[in-house]
Amino acid sequence: MTPYLSRHFTGSSQASRNMKIAQGYFAARVLFGIGLCAFAAMSKAMSDESASGGHSFALKACGACHVVAADQEAPPILYNPAPSFDVIANKRGTTADSLRLFLKTTHTTIREPNNMPNPMLADYQTAEVIAYILSLRK
Ligand code: HEC
Repeated sequence: MTPYLSRHFTGSSQASRNMKIAQGYFAARVLFGIGLCAFAAMSKAMSDESASGGHSFALKACGACHVVAADQEAPPILYNPAPSFDVIANKRGTTADSLRLFLKTTHTTIREPNNMPNPMLADYQTAEVIAYILSLRK
């Protein structure tokens, strides 16, 4: 603002001061609203982002035994492949909690040596892969 304009616009009358305060409140409210929307958009974007991280991670870490995605380069090498992620995602009873429990334990026993071993994932990898599996729900 040029000095000339600012002298005019920052006039010291009470009315203009009140106006400024009102504008300030309005601006604060608008900013708060924008903040809320941004937060909502961000958390949606973050879950999309973690699902896509889980997608590429699963192609590397799980694709030897599972059909992980339609864009998987090679079929699973496990003879008698494990259920596909599509099937797992759409099974009744599949939840973030059931997946987390499954992924944090081993399922191989002497009787069932071919069940899934504990994949020993870091927490963020578990979260991403769960977000990805749940994104396959129809
Ligand atoms: C060495 C082979 C192998 C690898 C690698 C593997 N899995 Fe599995 N997975 C299996 C087998 C076999 C089963 C089915 C038998 C069982 O329940 O253990 C299974 C079952 C599952 C199930 C439960 C399915 C159900 O019916 O509820 C989930 C979830 C799962 N795998 C996720 C993953 C994820 C995520 C990865 C990658 C981080 C992964 N698996 C890597 C072999 C594997």
